Amino acid sequence: MKMKWRKYLLLLTVMLSTVVWGSAQEITSPGGRLKATFGLTSKGEPSYSLTYDGKPVVKESRLGFKLKDNQEGDLTEGFVVVNQSTSTFDETWTPVWGESDKVRNHYNELFVELKQNPSGRMVNVRMRLFDDGLGFRYEFPDQEKLVYFTINEEVTEFAMPGDNTAWWIAGDYDSEEYTYTESPLSQIRKLYDEVKQYNASQQDFSKTGVQTPLQMKSPEGLYVNIHEAALIDFPAMNLELDDSRMVFHVHLTPDATGARGHVQTPFNTPWRTIIVSDDARDILASKLVYNLNDPCVLDDTSWIKPMKYMGVWWEMITGKSQWSYTNDLRSVHLDKTDYSKVKPHGKHGATTENTMRYIDFASKHGIKGLLVEGWNIGWEDWFGKQKEYVFDFVTPYPDYDLKKICAYAKSKGVDMIMHHESSSSIRNYERHMDQAYRFMVDNGYHAVKSGYVGDIIPRGEYHYGQWMVNHYLYAVKLAAKYHIMVNAHESVHMTGLSRTWPNLLSQESARGQEFQTGGNAKNHLTILPFSRLIGGPMDYTPGIVMFEMSRLNPDNHNWVQTTIGNQLGSYLTMYTPLQMAADLPEHYEEQMKAFEFIKEVPVEWSESKYLEAEPGRYITVARREKGTPNWFMGNVSGVKRVSKVKLDFLDKGVKYEAKIWQDGKNAAVATNPYDYTVTTKRVKKGDTLSLNAVEGGGFAVIIRPIK
Ligand code: NOJ
Ligand code: CA
Repeated sequence: MKMKWRKYLLLLTVMLSTVVWGSAQEITSPGGRLKATFGLTSKGEPSYSLTYDGKPVVKESRLGFKLKDNQEGDLTEGFVVVNQSTSTFDETWTPVWGESDKVRNHYNELFVELKQNPSGRMVNVRMRLFDDGLGFRYEFPDQEKLVYFTINEEVTEFAMPGDNTAWWIAGDYDSEEYTYTESPLSQIRKLYDEVKQYNASQQDFSKTGVQTPLQMKSPEGLYVNIHEAALIDFPAMNLELDDSRMVFHVHLTPDATGARGHVQTPFNTPWRTIIVSDDARDILASKLVYNLNDPCVLDDTSWIKPMKYMGVWWEMITGKSQWSYTNDLRSVHLDKTDYSKVKPHGKHGATTENTMRYIDFASKHGIKGLLVEGWNIGWEDWFGKQKEYVFDFVTPYPDYDLKKICAYAKSKGVDMIMHHESSSSIRNYERHMDQAYRFMVDNGYHAVKSGYVGDIIPRGEYHYGQWMVNHYLYAVKLAAKYHIMVNAHESVHMTGLSRTWPNLLSQESARGQEFQTGGNAKNHLTILPFSRLIGGPMDYTPGIVMFEMSRLNPDNHNWVQTTIGNQLGSYLTMYTPLQMAADLPEHYEEQMKAFEFIKEVPVEWSESKYLEAEPGRYITVARREKGTPNWFMGNVSGVKRVSKVKLDFLDKGVKYEAKIWQDGKNAAVATNPYDYTVTTKRVKKGDTLSLNAVEGGGFAVIIRPIK
């Protein structure tokens, strides 16, 4: 791709002579507030530490690997430094899409080459220290003594200096669809069982296991976020807390044999990342995880286009309609079942007529994309059956005239979005993938939502194991060849790979709006940007404006735990280049004043400013629309509060009009969620706006210049 690189400078590389056994090497961040050290204990055990303004962020923590069945033993001790060098790097790169049109990548690096005695095996550690945190990884050079090996355990530790508060979800090999718990680290074990009951746990492993990105706050008020970057050909990382010492250990997802990574040298592990600041806004603004990924590898990215989309979707999630076509089948065999001969149950959502209704609405209001789920045969037994040949990804149900729909969408300027639910039958999906992508190209599709519901087949593999990590990237790389954009659900947490493959537009990989049929915690949206979104955009699917589930499904008496203000604000706080307007056309028709914001809010930005942030409490962000002087501001709140937002970011001497959607005085989740006001006000740079949000609420503002 043409990523316009602007290398400002590549500074000196200083080669230092062999360091004495037991000594430590220190580097400082460009701005000087962070210091990281690398050292060896007297037994030759590698370790590192990190401070911020002299305060410990990570105390001395061990590095290394325990290996499986390796005659030379583990890679944990007996190391000496054979070489080390420091360097500085500073560049500004242009993302294909993102929260801003420029990203600065500025760090000081320490590269340490280690040799183990007496095995002679070599492992290098590369540390990059930015103003917003540290990234380090292991590099196994090409060598005779270490060619193939299997990991039993990654030893990497993160030793916390105290009993930080954490916003955590249980560690798991298969699911991130959890609600967050806020507690001191010391309480995780106690709360674990109680909290797990309310969650979608599929394969948890320890009562002190947690997932990353993990957001914490130290007793001194430092915000610390642990994650990983550039997860390629390696199992995903969970953390396990040794709560007797407040030390996290990396816990890699095993494969079907219990191994935690198969490596062939030369090989670099993913980066282990620690973002840190005394201001929570800096965590949200950090681009450290992207900066640790490689630049874009696609030559042409002109086909990658951010967009808003609607979907024949929420009606299935809520139970109003169904993905499947018939109840009249005892057993479905894709190659034998003749769907034209079976009796439809009459609740199929993906019909030609219904889809055309959505196309009309999307086209009328300038919403570019339309996703349709349940269009293809196989949904009668798609889930939980351990069945391998569950979908073919190319055959529509008889009431879905795909050719007619695609032609109609094209004539109306709407881009159809393909849906591939793999049901986690991975070999089946991979067998069909070429043909399925080709089918998309032939029918004018440019984007696919893929899904990985259920246990992985082959059995014994996990969603976050090395084998699946390789599958997700394979799907993205192959999609790039077909000029297809990907939005994957239930896949592994994001680790900034969209910098390298920007056709990976978004992912779910967390608890999204789909759980609102039962209700998410009121502060859920104030935590996701500090956790899941640290690695990349989330397809949360905002834009629900009708909250009584019973109107869609008489058996469901829940309310979506939100307000109109909250739903609108989340278009800003939940950044993604692929943003949904998730509700049904008829619900938008009822709430046209709220829908106006959804219609107007863009998906491409030139600049973003996090104005207020506290995990679990509130987030307010302002973004400037790409190519215009217009600003959009959004807030979500987990607590009732009034934001006093200073409009410092506006241009001097320009008059603006602000249009404000905010929670009304009596707004309340589940009892009065439709209470909101829309007002306009003249504003200029330096003015302060007072804006209301209730618990679980929020607000949204459009600020445009006027003459
Ligand atoms: C779960 C996904 O998160 C949801 O969006 C999708 O509709 C279903 N799987 C079916 O694929
Ligand atoms: Ca899901």
